[in-house]
Order: sequence, then C-alpha cells, then structure tokens
Amino acid sequence: MADLGELVLQHVAKDGEITTSELAQRLQKDHQQIVGAVKSLQSLGNIIESEQRTSKHWELTEEGKEVTKDGSHEARVYNAIPADGGIQQAQLMKSGPYAKIGFSKAMSAGWLEVNKKAPGGPTVQRKVASIVDRVQNQLKQLQQGNLSDITDKEKAELKKRKLIQEVTVNIFLVWKGSGFTTSVQKLDTDLTPEMISSGSWKGKPFKAYNFDAMGVPPTAGHLHPLLKVRAEFRQIFLEMGFTEMPTNNYIESSFWNFDALFQPQQHPARDAHDTFFIKDPEFAHEFPMDYLERVKKVHSEGGYGSQGYKYDWKLSEAKKNILRTHTTAVSARMLYKLAQQEKFTPVKYFSIDRVFRNETLDATHLAEFHQIEGVVADYNLSLGHLIGILHAFFKKLGIEKLRFKPAYNPYTEPSMAVFSYHEGLKKWVEIGNSGVFRPEMLLPMGLPEDVVVIAWGLSLERPTMIKYGIDNIRDLIGPKVNLQMVYDNPICRLDK
Ligand code: PHE
Repeated sequence: MADLGELVLQHVAKDGEITTSELAQRLQKDHQQIVGAVKSLQSLGNIIESEQRTSKHWELTEEGKEVTKDGSHEARVYNAIPADGGIQQAQLMKSGPYAKIGFSKAMSAGWLEVNKKAPGGPTVQRKVASIVDRVQNQLKQLQQGNLSDITDKEKAELKKRKLIQEVTVNIFLVWKGSGFTTSVQKLDTDLTPEMISSGSWKGKPFKAYNFDAMGVPPTAGHLHPLLKVRAEFRQIFLEMGFTEMPTNNYIESSFWNFDALFQPQQHPARDAHDTFFIKDPEFAHEFPMDYLERVKKVHSEGGYGSQGYKYDWKLSEAKKNILRTHTTAVSARMLYKLAQQEKFTPVKYFSIDRVFRNETLDATHLAEFHQIEGVVADYNLSLGHLIGILHAFFKKLGIEKLRFKPAYNPYTEPSMAVFSYHEGLKKWVEIGNSGVFRPEMLLPMGLPEDVVVIAWGLSLERPTMIKYGIDNIRDLIGPKVNLQMVYDNPICRLDK
C-alpha cells in the first residue's frame, strides 16, 4: 500500500493535479485501489488535497464484448453467405441468434442483394467482394479506452444497438497539499515502553486515531434475539434474588402438568386440540404415590376445606405423557420438592423455557413458545404482595404503568391478568397472567397451611418481537428465519 501511495505521489508531483481514474489507467490498477491509496495519503495530513468529481465513460455490454470477439451481427451474416454462390434467405435467418438484425444492417450497408424470384424461394448473395467490420473495430477501440476516432454519432448508434453503455463513476481530482512530499514517512501507530524509556518518542510523528473507523465484526457465534432477551430477564430475576428452576424436560406427564395443578381431567385444555400427546412412551410410571392419592382425593372428593370437582379421577389419564403446555408444571414439581423439606423455608423461583400448545398457527402464534415464570412461596403472602412484586419486576423492564383485571386459572385464586400501558400504541395491552396458587394445589403437596404461593407468567416472544421490531413470528423462529437478522441484531438493552 505504501508503495502504491508513493507511486501516486510521483504522478501528482509530475502533473500537478491528476484524477484517480487517470492514475488507475497509468498504474494499471483497479480504481478502488487508487482511491484507497489516496485516502490513506490524506490521513497523513496535508500532503495532498482532493475533490470528488464524477466521470462518465463508455463500457461494452456483454453483447458488445461478443462482437469484439466474433464480429458484428452484419459481418457474421455476410460471412455466412458462400462467396461463390447464394444462400436461401430462410436458411440464412437460421444462421445465428442475431441473424435478423445482422441481415437488415448488412442490407442497408449495401453488402447483400436478394433475388426474390429464385425458384426455391428468395436467395441472398454477397454484393461486394469484401467488407470492413467497422462496428467491431470501433468496439475494440473503445475497449482499449481509445475514443478519439469515434464520433458522437457513432457512439449514439452503438448505444442504441445496446453494444455499449455509459457508466458514471465517482473519481477524485488530486493535487499537491501544503505539506507535499514524495517520500512518505511511515508514521508510528504504537507508543512502546522502549520509546518512553529512551525518549525517542519525542521526535516521532504518530498516526492520528481514526475515530470514525468501523470495528471489525467478530467472527463468533451469534445469539438469537430470544436468547438475548432471555438473558435480560434472567438478570432481572437474579437481581431480585430468584433461583432458576430446572426446566430441562419438554416431556411431562399429565399429572404434573395438570392434575397436580388441580386442573380437572375433563378440562378442555387437556384435549388433543390444545395439547400434544406423546405416542412413545405413551405413559409415565413413576409418581410419589402417597401424594398422587391426595391429588386424586382432592379432585374427586375434595378436602382441605374444598368440595373438589366430584368426578371419577383416573390414573390412566394422569399417566399420559405430553409436551408440557406451561412451565407451571416445573413450578409444581419444585413446590412439591420444597414441601418435602423437613422445615419449610421461603423461596423465590423463576424459569424461562419452552412450552408447547396445539395452536392454529398465525402471524403471532406458533405451536411452541417460551414462558417466563416467577414463583414466590412464603408465610402469609397476600394479593398485595403479588401486586407489589409485579410492580417491582416490570419496573426493571421499564414498564411503570400496570393495571390488573380478574382472570381465571384452574390453579390460582384469585387470578389476575396484567396489563401495561403501551406508549406507542396508546392503549393498555395484556402482558401477563398471575395469581395466588389454590390450597387444593398446595396442601396435598404437604406445604404448611399458612404458606402462600404467588406466581406470574408471561411469554418471551412478545417482548422480543416488540424490542426487535418483528411483527411476524415466522421471521423470529422457524425455517424462514433470515440468519442475517440474527447476526445483525444488536444486544438487548431493556429501557430501564
Ligand atoms: N401458567 C400460566 C399460563 O400458561 C401462567 C401463570 C403462571 C399464571 C403462574 C399464574 C401463575 O398462562
């Protein structure tokens, strides 16, 4: 590069001022390379000055390039006619893809004559003994950048025939600057300990920093936007003292997904329309049997102050393996585990992972998505605690205005849908679901009677799509995802 820079300077010294396109011609280099050399010379100070200009020049089209090799269409037609006889016009027309245009050009050049009355149909003969292929010669000259012999009219004709095209390029006019020199001193880029101890730095010119230079994108792996947003949510939970639950089981038994959560076996959500059932293995077999008996009892007969659902609870239904429909199945397992501790200790748990529902697919719904769930278990919690923690949680996401609306979940009472005011849409939008787990769920597990568990859930996809401005879920997950979207999207910073 330094060498090319010096070559450029030698030409500037000689000519006083010169364009980069002229330099590219003279030095037989690509124009962009010359521009690069000029730019790096300019970064050294005032050795040279430059100004942008546009320059137009003629370039051969693909068809034009073909003509330089094989001759003009009219010459090819002429050459296709035997010198010592004629050729049927119909046959001549089949001699090549450009025969028709070639024939008409050759006719108007006076190279051919047609005998319309020939016995086997019109025949074509050469009218002149030899021809000069001017079009081919002109194009060859143009290709060598030699324009002087071609008139404007001829250029216009070649352009009309789509053999040449005019291209505009940005070039630079370069001239000597106030500090002009032809010998560039190589600037130092690093201040080394040796320079400092010897004091040699004092006399050295250093290269200025280029603060406008773009960083080199690291050639590393890329996190999907969902994972970036998940990391932010995980951070929020960790800041609030929550512990992550193990969610590494997409397959769950109906027992933990539904029965443990006091969801009756004839509940519509347990239908194949909403839930994916596993064929193999179809059933789960290991359950804590005494707990299972208490779950069966609370469903079929009631207990703990509840009258239950009063139906014939079946183990065969509870054993069915499914793809979990919510991460609350994991929360149920964790709360059961907590209840087995000798002495209850308050806990704060969270999870962020994938769940599956047999949904009708559309722009915002897929058959799988991610849930974010928070669970707090402590003595004597109230709805006020739930509202308070939801405010604290969403505040960390930058969401300050919350409203709650009564809702229904089989496993929480009371239940509340969470709404937030969307500044962009200027309306209240639903952002989550929450509630206080029912005693019918907690007491069979063996948790103390005065322990209350509050919980809430939301989807990971929704905030991700809002954050990254994606309005079709198929652009976020699945086979149609543009990987460049994944590479280019910035890290997630929630507006907190
Ligand atoms: N499991 C609920 C859902 O799938 C979310 C939720 C979690 C609701 C915890 C209340 C308490 O929507």
